[in-house]
Amino acid sequence: MLLPHSLLLLLHVSLTYAQATQQLSIGSLNTYTSANFSGSTSPALRLPPSTNLSVSVAICLSSQSLPRFFVTNNTEISLPGPSGGSNVFEIQLNDGYGNWTGSTPEGGVLAVTNVGGTPFEVGVTEGDSGPMHEVLTTIPLLGDTTSNQALIFSSPFSLPNVVLPTYPNYTLPPANLSYATQPSSGGSPDFTLVLAPTSSSSLISEPQTGCALRSATSVGSQIFQSLWLRDASGWRSEWLMGGLTPLTNYTAYVIENRTKVSGPIYFVTKSALFSCPLVHSVPYCPAVSYAVPLPHPPVNFAAHDARTLPESLTDPLLSGLTNFTTMLTTFACGRDIYSPLQTCADCQREYRNWLCAISFPRCSEEGLPSTTTSSIAAQQTGAQVPVSALVPVTPTNVPRNLNLPNITSNYSMLLPCLETCTAVDRACPYFLGFKCPLPQFNANVSYGVGFIDKGESGVQGHGLAGYSQDRYGNIWCQGPGLEEGVA
Ligand SMILES: *[C@@H]1O[C@H](CO)[C@@H](O)[C@H](O)[C@H]1NC(C)=O
Ligand SMILES: *[C@@H]1O[C@H](CO)[C@@H](O)[C@H](O)[C@H]1NC(C)=O
Ligand SMILES: *[C@@H]1O[C@H](CO)[C@@H](O)[C@H](O)[C@H]1NC(C)=O
Ligand SMILES: *[C@@H]1O[C@H](CO)[C@@H](O)[C@H](O)[C@H]1NC(C)=O
Ligand SMILES: *[C@@H]1O[C@H](CO)[C@@H](O)[C@H](O)[C@H]1NC(C)=O
Ligand SMILES: *[C@@H]1O[C@H](CO)[C@@H](O)[C@H](O)[C@H]1NC(C)=O
Ligand SMILES: *[C@@H]1O[C@H](CO)[C@@H](O)[C@H](O)[C@H]1NC(C)=O
Ligand SMILES: *[C@@H]1O[C@H](CO)[C@@H](O)[C@H](O)[C@H]1NC(C)=O
Ligand SMILES: *[C@@H]1O[C@H](CO)[C@@H](O)[C@H](O)[C@H]1NC(C)=O
Ligand SMILES: *[C@@H]1O[C@H](CO)[C@@H](O)[C@H](O)[C@H]1NC(C)=O
Ligand SMILES: *[C@@H]1O[C@H](CO)[C@@H](O)[C@H](O)[C@H]1NC(C)=O
Ligand SMILES: *[C@@H]1O[C@H](CO)[C@@H](O)[C@H](O)[C@H]1NC(C)=O
Repeated sequence: MLLPHSLLLLLHVSLTYAQATQQLSIGSLNTYTSANFSGSTSPALRLPPSTNLSVSVAICLSSQSLPRFFVTNNTEISLPGPSGGSNVFEIQLNDGYGNWTGSTPEGGVLAVTNVGGTPFEVGVTEGDSGPMHEVLTTIPLLGDTTSNQALIFSSPFSLPNVVLPTYPNYTLPPANLSYATQPSSGGSPDFTLVLAPTSSSSLISEPQTGCALRSATSVGSQIFQSLWLRDASGWRSEWLMGGLTPLTNYTAYVIENRTKVSGPIYFVTKSALFSCPLVHSVPYCPAVSYAVPLPHPPVNFAAHDARTLPESLTDPLLSGLTNFTTMLTTFACGRDIYSPLQTCADCQREYRNWLCAISFPRCSEEGLPSTTTSSIAAQQTGAQVPVSALVPVTPTNVPRNLNLPNITSNYSMLLPCLETCTAVDRACPYFLGFKCPLPQFNANVSYGVGFIDKGESGVQGHGLAGYSQDRYGNIWCQGPGLEEGVA
């Protein structure tokens, strides 16, 4: 029996309406496969009204056959698709991501064609926050590794709440800083660390989206996780991971709020012979997060922190910093100025950073494949190959910090970047007499020279690398880390 034409039309309208009954709300994040649409191959989702709506999609599994996404804010179109129409837009996928931003005064429709078994996410946001799915331009930061552990930080997410001292009550922070007050948990993103050997294909074969990476196999065991304020760039999430394999190149991503991906970074674990333990979470030396030539931490501690460090090492450090602060405040801080750019608080902060770097030497290892990529690139372009500032240390040569316990095995010391020193020189009043060795004389005996700033001229940021480490696992000297957003 044939249905009258008008009835057919009616049926068509109610069918498309039925398909578009799923309403997406602002802030929603949903995962779909064809199973969610009872087999419909071109389902539609209703979008909420907004003056500035962002719809973003992410593919969660690599596939030859990807869905296509069409958006319309034209309420006369109930099923936007490849045939187009006025104000019908296709969301182009790029590395598994796609987004559309525009106004939907009376709502809109997101239609999906070629829906199959490949799961995908749809996120809806409004206003200036931008699309929910995003590849962040800031990357995670490697603290350091041992043979089977790694300290990893997310990129900064929240600036510290710094109250600068003012005259007449110019009180500088005490040497023995207490733990900074953490940002409220509501204001901090939800973080996921994903870690896998670079050689295994488990990460590269998937789209680099939050949902794909979250479901990929991640290795290592989490020993410790906390929020940490390393430096003025802001709060980060910190992970101490264990259970890794010696001399292995790893790939790491950090996913924020399930949808924003930061990374990848690469790093190499040390050889099985490497014996220096990691030091981290020391409130008065917040940037110390690397391997230090110390005896192993007590049982039940996987690494050293403020509770396990020997007093023979920390007491002189805190006493030295207290004395320095006393001397510094003989200057009329906050009333008289010694520089248009620097204050006593800057001076104390940079001195603390330097003193910590000197008091906690950094262990590394000779012969790491540490400059593979950059050296090949450099050789091809004829540029100078940066070689890490390593100095061999044996039990018989005198360690630089006499308060360190004697070591029993050899290690290589990664020298602090000269910029750690010049930052103090720049920030502190002249009368304190703080001086750094000059690059053209013997600075390279005790510092890594020319990696961040240009060697002899000291031109800022024009050194061989421009920073102390990169995202590929190269670490040239012990210093502030990566510049934000450096690729
Ligand atoms: C789609 O189906 C999966 C599996 O049944 C379910 O976990 C998921 O919540 C569904 N998605 C939506 C948005 O309903
Ligand atoms: C949104 O899509 C446009 C066009 O494809 C792209 O250039 C942009 O980077 C995307 N934005 C985000 C935050 O992914
Ligand atoms: C629909 O979106 C397009 C592109 O953003 C915009 O130019 C147009 O004005 C919007 N239509 C309505 C009704 O807001
Ligand atoms: C809409 O939001 C985007 C961020 O997603 C922003 O760049 C843009 O300026 C906003 N447009 C309007 C008209 O507010
Ligand atoms: C001076 O400042 C410190 C730290 O900000 C504060 O603890 C102290 O109470 C202040 N002293 C006076 C006299 O205001
Ligand atoms: C530093 O402060 C902590 C607590 O804030 C305290 O337990 C520790 O003994 C102090 N260290 C020194 C050397 O004063
Ligand atoms: C993640 O969520 C938190 C809390 O909801 C929010 O403050 C933060 O801006 C979000 N971060 C990103 C990168 O979207
Ligand atoms: C700090 O000053 C005190 C008193 O003058 C002195 O005993 C101590 O040795 C000094 N500390 C350092 C590390 O120089
Ligand atoms: C680790 O692997 C990445 C990706 O293949 C590579 O770029 C990097 O140079 C490797 N790092 C080291 C230290 O070998
Ligand atoms: C460390 O070694 C030096 C010289 O080798 C020795 O004089 C000193 O007593 C040793 N210190 C300890 C704590 O063993
Ligand atoms: C330590 O280094 C010294 C000097 O290079 C060398 O003679 C010695 O064999 C090394 N010891 C170990 C355990 O590798
Ligand atoms: C240190 O610098 C001097 C002079 O620039 C140079 O001759 C020497 O080879 C350098 N030493 C190291 C260990 O790089």
